[in-house]
Amino acid sequence: MRTLKLYFLTNNKHKYSEILDIFKRVKTQIRIEMYSYPNTKLEIQAENLEEIVKFAVKYARRKGLDNFFIEDSGLFIEALKGFPGPFSSYVFKTIGIPGILRLLENETNRKAFFKSVIGLCLNGKTYIFTGVVKGRISEIPRGKYGFGFDPIFIPNGFSKTFAEMTLKEKNTVSHRSRAAKKMLNFLQNFLRGDVMEENKNTF
Ligand code: IMP
Repeated sequence: MRTLKLYFLTNNKHKYSEILDIFKRVKTQIRIEMYSYPNTKLEIQAENLEEIVKFAVKYARRKGLDNFFIEDSGLFIEALKGFPGPFSSYVFKTIGIPGILRLLENETNRKAFFKSVIGLCLNGKTYIFTGVVKGRISEIPRGKYGFGFDPIFIPNGFSKTFAEMTLKEKNTVSHRSRAAKKMLNFLQNFLRGDVMEENKNTF
């Protein structure tokens, strides 16, 4: 089986480590390299993550890149009608965790979900993979691991926040790991298909 090198266009080392861990768990010929180049990932402010990712993929393609992927994610809080959603990055940098907790003061509906959308560009074609994890927003921030809203998100079936989990534990349920596993599965099938193609040509 031939090897495949993919660039992960991101400036977020946490996202990179999480996705790398998914790929390292299986025997695969796919190598992931972080590609930190701010001008290749241009974000539009759209109301849906898929649109943002497709736009970012197109933009990077126009910069001449191929065989790469981009990930965009967000936290959607039910009582806030899905806010901050696609604006999570901006909201984290501005009002942050204290601001979100203030908006939820006296709110009994703490339901929320994280969504991750990965846009993969492979040999010039774009493929989209999504992952969701449902959970709830804690009353206070807890934990020291991870990044972003990890200290206030408790996935369903757990009592710990994401920030109280190790990277490996987070990867058993997280939105990003779910999207990344779908991409990994697709890539492995793709590579297997490639082997068959090569064999056909050889014989
Ligand atoms: P972007 O995908 O780089 O646009 O950023 C999404 C924002 O959502 C991040 O800055 C975080 O604040 C938040 N976010 C996305 N995924 C996670 C996660 O796994 N844990 C905590 N916060 C996250």
